[in-house]
Amino acid sequence: MGIIICLVVGYAFGCFSTGYIVGKMNHIDIRNYGSGNSGTTNALRTLGFKAGLLTFLGDALKAIIPIMLIRFYFPAPEGNLQLLLLYTGLGVVLGHNFPAWLHFKGGKGIAATAGVMLAFDWRFGLAAAVIFVILVAITRYVSLGSLALSLLFPIGVLIFYPGQIHMLIVSLIFTVLAYVKHRGNITRLLNGTERKLGQKIEINK
Ligand code: G3P
Repeated sequence: MGIIICLVVGYAFGCFSTGYIVGKMNHIDIRNYGSGNSGTTNALRTLGFKAGLLTFLGDALKAIIPIMLIRFYFPAPEGNLQLLLLYTGLGVVLGHNFPAWLHFKGGKGIAATAGVMLAFDWRFGLAAAVIFVILVAITRYVSLGSLALSLLFPIGVLIFYPGQIHMLIVSLIFTVLAYVKHRGNITRLLNGTERKLGQKIEINK
């Protein structure tokens, strides 16, 4: 029952689509521009730095807040709390990627996953931030940084929570979700047509 409650709480927070709301504040549906994604990268390329930053903060916070609420207020059975935090985070990413109120057309879940990693275990958040920043700085491909970040999740569980098979499986779901959502990006990365950080697009309102 605890797992279901955490998934539902997480999903409710995840449905807060910051990029979509920031787009609407600028009189556009961000999903009709650029990559069609409602996340940080597309807000940045479509609406500029402030919109990108706001989208990132909103999407990361909507993961951090419910995980902290569950951490401090949910009466979890002994030894079960970390797993419930992961399920809360999974709910957030599912809500972000497939928000019911936007006909299930959301983002790719990377800022939300970063927030989950940080709130779950700060070492995960730190490692994710370092790898992401280095990869994006070198290649200027945000998607490459995103794919590496999501791969760090199960790797971190293997290293810091050895033998926790249930946690490993849940952390792998984050990775699978990210790779499925980035399948177009992966194709473009492979054939050299992926958009680089800093490429802006024109919008007609
Ligand atoms: O977090 C999303 C990023 O990895 C790719 O975004 O808009 O280029 O598909 P986008």
